[in-house]
Amino acid sequence: VEPLKVALAGLGTVGAGVIRLIDANADLIARRAGRPIEIVAVSARDRSKDRGVDIARFDWVDDMTQLAHHPEAEVVVELIGGSDGPALALARATLAAGKGLVTANKAMIAHHGLELAGMAEKSDTPMKFEAAVAGGVPVIKGLREGAAANVIDRVYGILNGTCNFILSKMEAEGRDFDDVLAEAQAMGYAEADPGFDIDGVDAAHKLSILASLAFGTQPAFGDVAVGGIRDVVAADIAEAAALGYRVRLLGIADLNGDGLFQRVHPHLVPFAHPLAHVTGATNAVVAEGNFVGRLLFQGAGAGDGPTASAVVADLIDIARTEFGPPYAMPAASLAGEPAAPTGERRSR
Ligand code: HSE
Repeated sequence: VEPLKVALAGLGTVGAGVIRLIDANADLIARRAGRPIEIVAVSARDRSKDRGVDIARFDWVDDMTQLAHHPEAEVVVELIGGSDGPALALARATLAAGKGLVTANKAMIAHHGLELAGMAEKSDTPMKFEAAVAGGVPVIKGLREGAAANVIDRVYGILNGTCNFILSKMEAEGRDFDDVLAEAQAMGYAEADPGFDIDGVDAAHKLSILASLAFGTQPAFGDVAVGGIRDVVAADIAEAAALGYRVRLLGIADLNGDGLFQRVHPHLVPFAHPLAHVTGATNAVVAEGNFVGRLLFQGAGAGDGPTASAVVADLIDIARTEFGPPYAMPAASLAGEPAAPTGERRSR
């Protein structure tokens, strides 16, 4: 059988993780996918950097966006990051060339997901982004496939591991925000611009993707009211605990009388709620469906292994030719602009 041939753009932590995972589990993946998954070409900003994986066996392409035109590759995995720039150029070129796209890029999907989904459908080619939300936790598949038969009223959760790590540490050790931030960054989960983590932007990217899937609306990042955890002090956390609550940065999207309301900010979560018990750099998403009830998806929201696991799961779907429209319904039928939220508006 012919392998599924893949080109990989971006060789950071996740890119190297994808190579390691495909090497380590090649036989199992081939059996599950019905054919081997083979990386044929790679590209990154710096060829010579030591990544702990052998890349000499793959074609090297200097210009990342040219991977879309690699003669053998059927699918491009985009792990460059950034909402625009080379990531978006590569995604557009890939879909325009009629090739499949797998991406972990939450910022790009939050801002351009609808356009890219339209292109994918027009070219009748797959576009998948499981790794863009909650790393290794299969929440996109959960909503798009598992809960596909349900009306969803609400989707919410802990969508940023860096913030959850900081809040958990502040609580456990009574330390202040600035004190714990450097430790969180040392874990290697923080975004290139750490403001994206602590100001809630990263969580908002993910929330807007979840909301579009859950409610069949256009992804509209600019409609998310965004707040972060910069101003949370140890005393806030201690006072909340005395009253029976934990402080968590939550993204919440729900439908009220005025339409879809999407917001990210620190919330008081009662001890009795499962999200109060999610500690460290973990993500957890709750979705409430009218027939399935309350679903909880929880696990590692970042890191090379978990994120690579989601990327390769998407490749396996493509190898099996198990895919439909990226948003589970045609992009053209996603409802128009969701109603504006009443909270603070900020886009970045
Ligand atoms: N900076 C993100 C986090 C990484 O801390 O959750 C995964 O998107």
